[in-house]
Amino acid sequence: MMAPVRPVIVAGNWKMHTTPTEAAALARSIAVVIDEPTVTRVLCPPFVALGSVAGALVGTGVAVGAQNVHHEASGAHTGEISAAMLEGLATWVICGHSERRREACETDDLIGRKVARALEHGLRPILAVGETSDQRDAGDAARVVERQLEGAATALRAAGGDPTGPAAASLVVAYEPVWAIGTGRTAHGVDAAAMADLIRMTLASVGWASADDVPVLYGGSVTAASAAEFLAEPSLDGALVGGASLKPDEMAGIVARASLTARARSETAAARRTR
Ligand code: PGA
Repeated sequence: MMAPVRPVIVAGNWKMHTTPTEAAALARSIAVVIDEPTVTRVLCPPFVALGSVAGALVGTGVAVGAQNVHHEASGAHTGEISAAMLEGLATWVICGHSERRREACETDDLIGRKVARALEHGLRPILAVGETSDQRDAGDAARVVERQLEGAATALRAAGGDPTGPAAASLVVAYEPVWAIGTGRTAHGVDAAAMADLIRMTLASVGWASADDVPVLYGGSVTAASAAEFLAEPSLDGALVGGASLKPDEMAGIVARASLTARARSETAAARRTR
């Protein structure tokens, strides 16, 4: 069987930075320097800036993502944002970022229901998983990530979602070791790649549609300088970038490196077709 040719994706997570006006200006500056259609590019500003950023990115080929979504369709949930509210503003959504697991006590169950809701509304979920440094030191990293994926898949099924169905094929997973987020420390490329393989095996074991085709991104202190370490790994399909995604020069460097991988993959695919 031929190995799948997965797309290369660079997503920027702006976290709680930028006002709507600042976000639109930043999105415009970044879009100009990441004009590389071989790479799928996504910017995830705060909720209140989705509208201004969506407007700023029209015609650029850069997609807009939200940083979170509520698991219920609607109801008495003060301060929350539903998937339906995101339609027209965002086409992607990050689910289960470790900062939300930690600060908002999001569980695998809740996160699986968010993924189900996102898929139901045609939003492309980026499901974030990863271990803490204590879990890694205890030798539990693989088990933690497996549990996070299994928990999300179980919750998705319980919520009426079908991990084997065609909608589920739009899932993207971001492996983000918690100890690497915002710390300046990164995982080693080979370790992150091994985790990406484990993620696809775990998805296959829970019956996920086309598990081999699910893109797995690395996240955690990715910069233009460190991007190559991850983008050179065939098992990794891009990056979820936090701090560096607020800097146009950094994003330019990361996407430029990602485009080398994307081009190499499409050349390999073309060569296979002519064989
Ligand atoms: P970082 O954040 O790149 O600032 O480490 C990554 C993330 O939290 O997605």
